[in-house]
Amino acid sequence: MAGDLTVHRPVLLDETLAALAVRADGSYIDANLGGGGHAEQILDASAPAGRLLGIDADPAAIERTRARLARFGTRLQTHQGSNAEIALAAGAAGIAAADGILFDLGLSSDQLSDSARGFGIRAGGPLDLRFDTSCGEPASALLARLDARELTRIFKAYGEEPHASRIAKAIVARRNVEPIDTSERLAALVESAVPVRYGPPLRIHPATRVFQALRIAVNDELEALATALDGAISILADGGRIVVLTYHSLEDRIVKQAFAAAARGCICPPRAPACGCGRTPTLRLINRKPLIATDEEIAANPRSRSAKLRAAERIGVAA
Ligand SMILES: C[S@@+](CC[C@H](N)C(=O)[O-])C[C@H]1O[C@@H](n2cnc3c(N)ncnc32)[C@H](O)[C@@H]1O
Repeated sequence: MAGDLTVHRPVLLDETLAALAVRADGSYIDANLGGGGHAEQILDASAPAGRLLGIDADPAAIERTRARLARFGTRLQTHQGSNAEIALAAGAAGIAAADGILFDLGLSSDQLSDSARGFGIRAGGPLDLRFDTSCGEPASALLARLDARELTRIFKAYGEEPHASRIAKAIVARRNVEPIDTSERLAALVESAVPVRYGPPLRIHPATRVFQALRIAVNDELEALATALDGAISILADGGRIVVLTYHSLEDRIVKQAFAAAARGCICPPRAPACGCGRTPTLRLINRKPLIATDEEIAANPRSRSAKLRAAERIGVAA
């Protein structure tokens, strides 16, 4: 790990700060604190008295980033746990209404390069894949326990893996010989199970989608995201901004739909003669199309290649 305690480079940093419209002395929440790259800039831009609550499920990320950003003193507060608890965590931190909330989903480069966690196909290590190892079960336990049908469903639903069934069957056959408990073993097994491909080399390892699917499953990521977005919208101040960075289509779809529903308000059928639900819009979309990284950023930080930024503003908060 670098001397400054993080190797993670924040994605779409300028675009994120602009979309959050960070102002002096505001109250902010970074719901995916990670290495604190975004949080640091938000704290700088909200000086002298702006506050930021940083949430992360990974205790190691919280500890490292608290140490790295210690110069901000009590302007930085942290909460270790799922960001699905955002409303509770904000209340405990004394934030009744946030001026801006950021979600930067998925995993950090610090986690990817930590061989004790199994996130990195190349870094190797025990196949755990949990952000918070104190709850849930490691990915190796899922591979040991689920039948081929359930594994196929996970690889399809969360990884959009075209060879899901083939890989699931190979796992079930292999685990009778040896446990699939390291990321090296899983990566090698997937590589041998998928058909040989001719043509230019793949940009991603053949096991990338399977790792993504297992990570989503063990962390219950999509469920947590939907809950966290609802919670975040509910604690935004009038005019407060919500900004979400996603890295794959499953996440982006959830954000797009949650924002669209909040911007629409009314949930009555389109043919209903009059509104009967009484719901009013709670968000105004800032960008209809998601922002993406420039070629320069992608060249400097390949992780930004798949990033999409969606932003919205809270409206209609009763005075
Ligand atoms: C992409 S990184 C954030 C990087 C950060 N923006 C930076 O600039 O360093 C995502 C972080 O979110 C955390 N995380 C993922 N899902 C989470 C969840 N449901 N609740 C809380 N933290 C989560 C991961 O542990 C990881 O540290």
